[in-house]
Amino acid sequence: MSKLKVGVIGCGNISTIYLTNCQHFQSLEIYAVSDLDMDKARAKAEEFSVPKAYTVEELLADEAIDIVLNLTIPAVHGEVSLQALEAGKHVYVEKPLAISLEDGRKVAETAKAKGLKVGGAPDTFLGGGIQTCIKLVEDGWIGRPVAANAFFMSSGVEAWHPNPDFFYQVGGGPMFDMGPYYLTALITMMGTVKRVTGSASTSFEERETPTGRKIPVAIPTHIAGVLDFESGAVASLVTSFDSWGNNLPRIEIYGETGTLSVPDPNTFGGPVKFRRKEEKEFHDVPLTHGYTENSRGIGLADMAESIIEDRPHRANSDLTFHVLEIMHGIHIASNEGRHYPLEGTVQRPELLDMHKKF
Ligand SMILES: NC(=O)c1ccc[n+]([C@@H]2O[C@H](COP(=O)([O-])OP(=O)(O)OC[C@H]3O[C@@H](n4cnc5c(N)ncnc54)[C@H](O)[C@@H]3O)[C@@H](O)[C@H]2O)c1
Repeated sequence: MSKLKVGVIGCGNISTIYLTNCQHFQSLEIYAVSDLDMDKARAKAEEFSVPKAYTVEELLADEAIDIVLNLTIPAVHGEVSLQALEAGKHVYVEKPLAISLEDGRKVAETAKAKGLKVGGAPDTFLGGGIQTCIKLVEDGWIGRPVAANAFFMSSGVEAWHPNPDFFYQVGGGPMFDMGPYYLTALITMMGTVKRVTGSASTSFEERETPTGRKIPVAIPTHIAGVLDFESGAVASLVTSFDSWGNNLPRIEIYGETGTLSVPDPNTFGGPVKFRRKEEKEFHDVPLTHGYTENSRGIGLADMAESIIEDRPHRANSDLTFHVLEIMHGIHIASNEGRHYPLEGTVQRPELLDMHKKF
């Protein structure tokens, strides 16, 4: 297989796992890295033997680069992706697609108008855990899915994160930070969401770091959402930074003839558990697919292969835009006391081949 050249913008925390995993993918080569902080770019280039450490401008101007991997902070995802598209590059961006709905829409539409691809995280749904769940649903193990529950409950990030402030500013919060994992998993198992509603609250006006520094909270930190799928199924999704402990599952899908317990969608592996209506206990289901360890980057590898093979890619902009619109829709519904109808639709991405090797 020929290889596409990838230029990385953003050499922070998450870049390490991408640079590690991308060394092994047959469809791409990490050709250049860049960051506003050139020391970070040079350090990553050296550590991973990347040929070029560029400024962002140099990277965008290099015609050898086919795909920009945008690993910058959420606040500039939209802007950096648009610059890359204007420079004629395909783009794969960390989550979320953008902060505002308008920027997300602009990125998706610009790519389509230019005949370029946009893909985006999360790609955990391509891991063995959720691929197994999708296969069980498709093969009818729980019958028609009629409902689902999904919970991300935490006490926030200030106790452990070195730079927690942005989590409590616009674009942060539990929904925008963790919602993409839960929503992507739900959509890839259950399809398009047609409308959402919900309530969002700010339980504490400020948070406190372990050193006693106070952080003002500008966004809701407990969001209870309700999703109506086109299929007729209904799901609840709660994301919270306001819980000191809970006994809730991550995701459960309730079908006409059984229940599926879905693993943490922020991971690639299991366990996957299943219970038929006549059974009293859940039992573990062996995983049908590979990529069960931290495989961040397989969505990018699938997109690179899709460009080479001229086929649709799985972690695509219809999916990432649908996720962004649902997250905004729940907040809008809460503010305005109504249901929010979604404009976007998605095709559920095709299952990977069980023996797939990127
Ligand atoms: N850290 C994690 O565990 C984690 C996990 C999953 C997803 N993510 C996502 O990955 C993305 C990056 O997160 P991170 O933790 O690596 O953040 P980070 O702050 O460690 O790194 C971001 C990097 O982007 C650079 N940058 C910012 N604006 C830029 C610009 N305009 N041009 C070029 N470089 C720019 C910064 O200098 C920094 O080096 C976020 O979208 C985050 O949601 C992070």
